[in-house]
Amino acid sequence: MKDIVLSGIRSTGNLHLGNYYGALSKFVKIQDTCDCNFFIADLHALTTNPDPQQLHANVKSILAEYLAAGLDPEKSTIFVQSDIPEIAEMYLLLNMHVGIGELMRTASFKDKARKALGLGSPEAGDGDDDAIERQIIGTDSNRRVNAGLLTYPTLMAVDILIQKATKVPVGKDQLQHLELTRRFARRFNSFYGVDLFPEPTDFDFGGAPVKVPGLDGSGKMGKSEGNCIYLIDDPKVLRKKVMRAVTDEGPKEPNSPMSEPVANLFTLLELTSTPDVVSHFRQAYADCSIRYGDLKKQLAEDILAVTTPIRERVQDILADESYLARVVRQGAEKARARASQTLREMREIMGIRPL
Ligand code: ADP
Ligand code: TRP
Repeated sequence: MKDIVLSGIRSTGNLHLGNYYGALSKFVKIQDTCDCNFFIADLHALTTNPDPQQLHANVKSILAEYLAAGLDPEKSTIFVQSDIPEIAEMYLLLNMHVGIGELMRTASFKDKARKALGLGSPEAGDGDDDAIERQIIGTDSNRRVNAGLLTYPTLMAVDILIQKATKVPVGKDQLQHLELTRRFARRFNSFYGVDLFPEPTDFDFGGAPVKVPGLDGSGKMGKSEGNCIYLIDDPKVLRKKVMRAVTDEGPKEPNSPMSEPVANLFTLLELTSTPDVVSHFRQAYADCSIRYGDLKKQLAEDILAVTTPIRERVQDILADESYLARVVRQGAEKARARASQTLREMREIMGIRPL
């Protein structure tokens, strides 16, 4: 039996190089060998209360970016999460088997709750777990953490289990959610003595997972970090971002170790350039003849060679509203067929039957 693959990206903004190398380009590669299902997680985006106009625009732009990067609706089922009403019903049913304690202990909840309450990071000695808990249930603050944020892992588990997916390609930050999904599946199966849900695992692409760094010297590229190169960045904007990337004073002695900002530039170069170009600049770094300006110019052009065809296709695809509507209608039909079957089975198992 072919693996059922499922993954989604929240509709919280345009896709960046991190999303592309960490997720989208991999989705494209596995389309021919697996039963692939890719969706836009707009219900998950609601947990941070986005502007409604913006949310709608983001769903459309991510769909166009999916298609422009090579997701093929003839090979993969591509859909919008909110087009599958069965997900909302199963979310209610599954929540009855999920503990608030285990949800409160997830790393992403603590992190997002901290942000929603305006607390700093625990490393800063600010907002330890007890403080967060007191603030969440306390009445001394008018800031609140919405219940959707708490039950985010239930919703994600439902996305996966309702399709009976077996492989879920996600980044490292999502592995805890996948672990919870397995736990919920196991718990449901054993509580009712059934074998309804398979336990999904991460998709093993071989090799180390990609972490695309930002251009600001440290950490990963991410929307909330404000350090992104977007797939649809205009060439002028993109060149400017790359030229402004943080570096250092340059190597003083042959074969010096690299500082993090410079190593990050090399990581990006390795992702986008040819091996010749990479080894040319590595050599220049090693013998101290490197000029970071040249490296950045080359890097900008090589990134543009990847993003330009995507950007151009995005513009065409966005202009074709009826095509976009057709893709998600067709995707929703397929995704709903499986979802409604699973929901029917689940209702029956739980004793929700017509009189
Ligand atoms: P962001 O961190 O920008 O909000 P998301 O959390 O929506 O992005 O991530 C969507 C997908 O893209 C996930 O599978 C995630 O692992 C991947 N991804 C995001 N940023 C990076 C990065 N810098 N490097 C590698 N993969 C990434
Ligand atoms: N939580 C994921 C993220 O933030 C997005 C997501 C929602 C997802 N549902 C999913 C990913 C189901 C894989 C499978 O990136």
